[in-house]
Amino acid sequence: MKEYIIAGNWKMNTTIKEATELTKLIIAGLDAQPVSNNVKVLICPPFTNLDSVNKLIAKSTVLLGAQNCYFESKGAFTGEISIDMLKQFKCEYVIVGHSERRQYFHETNEFINKKIHALLKNSLTPILCIGESLEDRNANSTFDVLSAQLSKSLANISNDDIAKIVVAYEPIWAIGTGVTATIAQVEEAHNYIRQFLVDNFGTNAEKVLIQYGGSVNAENAKEILAVANVNGALIGGASLKSEQFLQIINIATA
Ligand code: PGA
Repeated sequence: MKEYIIAGNWKMNTTIKEATELTKLIIAGLDAQPVSNNVKVLICPPFTNLDSVNKLIAKSTVLLGAQNCYFESKGAFTGEISIDMLKQFKCEYVIVGHSERRQYFHETNEFINKKIHALLKNSLTPILCIGESLEDRNANSTFDVLSAQLSKSLANISNDDIAKIVVAYEPIWAIGTGVTATIAQVEEAHNYIRQFLVDNFGTNAEKVLIQYGGSVNAENAKEILAVANVNGALIGGASLKSEQFLQIINIATA
């Protein structure tokens, strides 16, 4: 059976009060709507809400992730959050290399690679985000961009460890825009990513979960999740609306 990971990336949204309300609605919804074993549900709130969300999900099947981390374990790195700090809240996943971090905070593939190594060393699952800009796509360089992001971000990752990484394909032009990639574009990109991973890391890469992200909602999720190499979704805007998020989980479960 196809494996799915449905993840909510709350980005810089929610106060503790709002995160508590949203989490309670998600848990109540999941109580009423069983999730099959092949579907993992993950929420990635801002750092400041990890503690309260962790307490609320303790008895549920919902998993917790963070939106970023630093690769050093401690020290004089003002404003950064270490992996040990995240582990206090039972974070099991960390989003790395989101295009917003690449764009606004100038994160490079080399920097992202260090975080991936640090996360694997600590037995946390990195969700590596990759994706092309509209200019890249219009210049027919989508695959060049994806292969450069993959090869540099995954430098020196072993064939054993590759299956411990989730990859999220998020075309930048589809993030937060309401414009989703067409099914043909999703299929082509996911097939390319799968083939790249198998070519570079061997058959173990067949196990890598590849999420699609970019304006996923309850209306388009069915078609997207049905695509062969799509193993879930990384959802921004729609994950802040419990009924949308629950519907997408339901679609993965069906
Ligand atoms: P979106 O964001 O669903 O709001 O497009 C997706 C993401 O950035 O992960």
